Amino acid sequence: MLTHPANSLDFVKVTEAAALAASRWMGRGERDAADGAAVEKMRETLGEMDISGRIVIGEGERDEAPMLYIGEEVGRGGFECDIAVDPVEGTNLVANGLPNSIATLAIAPRGGLLHAPDSYMEKLAVGQKAAPFVHLDASVRDNLEAVANALDKPVNDICVVILDRPRHADIIAQVRAAGARIKLISDGDVDACIATAIDGTGIHVAMGTGGAPEGVLAAAAIKCLGGNFMGRLKPRNDEERARAIKMGFGDLDRVLQIDDLVRSDEVVFCATGITDGDLVHGVRFLGNQARTKSILVHAGGTVRFIESVHRLGARPAGR
Ligand code: FBP
Repeated sequence: MLTHPANSLDFVKVTEAAALAASRWMGRGERDAADGAAVEKMRETLGEMDISGRIVIGEGERDEAPMLYIGEEVGRGGFECDIAVDPVEGTNLVANGLPNSIATLAIAPRGGLLHAPDSYMEKLAVGQKAAPFVHLDASVRDNLEAVANALDKPVNDICVVILDRPRHADIIAQVRAAGARIKLISDGDVDACIATAIDGTGIHVAMGTGGAPEGVLAAAAIKCLGGNFMGRLKPRNDEERARAIKMGFGDLDRVLQIDDLVRSDEVVFCATGITDGDLVHGVRFLGNQARTKSILVHAGGTVRFIESVHRLGARPAGR
């Protein structure tokens, strides 16, 4: 458990505030507006906490993001921590009213979270039972058989989540050839990776390439849950490659283990549903109240599902 004065429930208030703000934009086709609303609320709420927080994964570099930029200091002072945020993970999902968008953050003592470049990452995520038996460098078939053995299921009971992208055609073909089932998702691989580590989601493995910052957020939750996450940076072009090398990633082929991504054992992860998802339900508006569902996990492994009912202020004109 994070040894700091701030109550970890306070972190849930941060993702709740972001989710409430973003959810007003559900289905309105305006991903930037949804993101902007969530960023503003997340920053405001973080600013009220007794922490000396430093954003290590945020909305981008200082010159491209006015709020929650990488390196921004947040909080009123206190516990020194690094914070990874994604105020809207799955901006298209919110804009289109699709499942699995979350507002999320991870917090660890200073130095506890990898400063991942804004690039791609090849990922492999599984839950606790399969954790010791998979590897990013193993074949898809070997990994799926290892997961099936660990879970004591036939391979064709195993469900693999993969982002629906042309770059994944080969992985999809290999999973099908191995006989496992697939859930293709249009966006939102943080939610998908974490779902592998929670019993009852019906998701056993997440594979494929997505955002590197999202990889650190997923790894934070999975580390708390005792699962396994491995990643390998996949720069999309020379500029990203050069930036990654400048940030200290000498060997870009190196497999980043979960402890490379999340160095601290005192990490806290939380997420609040914006739209309904595999982990948590989305925001529900009930007259002058709204109900949110969140997940909070600590290094101790306890998973808390938190339901909150928020009293809303006067409704803005036109909404
Ligand atoms: P955003 O919330 O920034 O839109 O990211 C959504 C997401 O689907 C992530 O979950 C995923 O890691 C990444 O985008 C995949 O990137 P791409 O859409 O370029 O394949």
